[in-house]
Amino acid sequence: MVRTLLAAGILVGGLIVLEDQAGALDNGVARTPPMGWNSWNTFGCNINETLIKQMADAIVNSGLRDLGYKYVVVDDCWFDPTRDSAGNLRGNPSRFPGGMKALGDYLHAKGLKFGIYQVPVDKTCAQYFGSYPGATGSQGHEVQDAKQFAAWGVDYLKYDWCSPSGTIDDQVRTFAKMRDALAATGRPIVYSINPNSIHAKTGPQRNWGDVANLWRTTEDITNKWNTGQTNGYPMGIQNIVDVTVPLASYAKPGAFNDPDMMEIGRGGMTDTEMRSHFALWAIMASPLIAGNDLRSMDPATTTILKNQNLIAINQDPLGLQARQVSNDGTRRVLAKKLGNGDVAVALFNQGASTTTISTTASAIGLTGDSFTLRDAWTNTVSSSTGTISAAVPSHGTVVYRVSGGTSSTPTPTPTPTPSGPPDGCTATYRLVNDWGTGFQSEVTVSNPGPSAIDGWTVKMTLAGGQTITSLWNGVNTGTSGAIAVKNTPYNGTIAGSGSATFGFTANGSGSTTPTGITCTTP
Ligand code: GLA
Repeated sequence: MVRTLLAAGILVGGLIVLEDQAGALDNGVARTPPMGWNSWNTFGCNINETLIKQMADAIVNSGLRDLGYKYVVVDDCWFDPTRDSAGNLRGNPSRFPGGMKALGDYLHAKGLKFGIYQVPVDKTCAQYFGSYPGATGSQGHEVQDAKQFAAWGVDYLKYDWCSPSGTIDDQVRTFAKMRDALAATGRPIVYSINPNSIHAKTGPQRNWGDVANLWRTTEDITNKWNTGQTNGYPMGIQNIVDVTVPLASYAKPGAFNDPDMMEIGRGGMTDTEMRSHFALWAIMASPLIAGNDLRSMDPATTTILKNQNLIAINQDPLGLQARQVSNDGTRRVLAKKLGNGDVAVALFNQGASTTTISTTASAIGLTGDSFTLRDAWTNTVSSSTGTISAAVPSHGTVVYRVSGGTSSTPTPTPTPTPSGPPDGCTATYRLVNDWGTGFQSEVTVSNPGPSAIDGWTVKMTLAGGQTITSLWNGVNTGTSGAIAVKNTPYNGTIAGSGSATFGFTANGSGSTTPTGITCTTP
């Protein structure tokens, strides 16, 4: 497999660039990298219903949900150590006395999404290591378990190999079984796999976009900057970035490299390193899954997780991962093309002391001689004729959103800026995919006027039988009939002649277009 990939690669400046040869999993979800929280990094096996509900409450009350953090993922150790007499999985009755369906209902009622952990082999990782009893993996139960998850309202499955055995081809076949079982349920479920746990590191060896929405690139993360591992347990931030940057060409809507849950707010690193961690995950189009205790975040942690400039870069509809522009071992430059023509650039200092890192507009794909640079951390705006440069502290990452130049349109910035009277907006509907029992569509919100608009709402009436199951890049009120979709905090500002796009999946047939589509500004 490795040999095949290399044969398909192109030699560019001495670097093998792996060309994307696989189609993305076309299941309508993860059109941008999923955002949310996972129980493992802080709580390990020590989880229960009360804890998960408290975390759900904290996501809402902290404002994180409204910035896009929607998936609450219950990791290992949620299940009863035995299946019932019909072979069904069930929640551990002392840890989750209300049952998993009730937990899903609780999350959904709060506008959140429900994620759960399982393995394709016989034992979950905690069962394999003997810290939890039983052997309740999905091996031989794929269809039954997928149906069970769908019945519980699961929106995200983390499916973890956790076995030393099996070739990469065995893994592809086995992971594909659950992919197909999930698809057969008709419920859109984000499929997140980890081929690496206690196994040869196959995550970086192929483009897994044909098998899953998200695939782990490395062994497990820990709250350290550098553990000295290239891809072994446990991985620091620098080590994970080294593995994940070369896989950039694989990322696209529906398919993203997963460098693991975040360690922000868990100590073990400086504030500069924590900021770098978030900035790098954001520009690498990585899932932004927090792993800290959201009930007790310090202000520095909140500031990082809520950085709207970086969230907007991460959630950009093109779904591209930053490509490496240069790396001299100390100064690493990454650039991510954005939907409105802007380019986000990261100046990442891998060295031990402050250094100046520089690149140019032309090196990041822009032409012209007049650019605007918005610093994602300070939100300050500066202008440039082409040089992009900053003094960056050790292990720090400066991120600029660069707009201007002839190949770029004026920037809509994620931070609302005062502007003239609103010019109004228009909405254009497009059916993207229709699979009979469900469909995926997108709506482009355009600002035809010359000055920026701050905020928009699209209203429409769904055809009979259509019910929204998932919506991204917008905030939805209502699931059937007449619905109103408002901008999120990061795509409310649309520059003159600019546009923003939100998407959704729905149950029912997509052959009938929603009626009465209107767009209004506040
Ligand atoms: C593996 C995964 C982790 C976590 C644990 C649970 O190590 O990589 O993210 O899910 O299993 O046991």
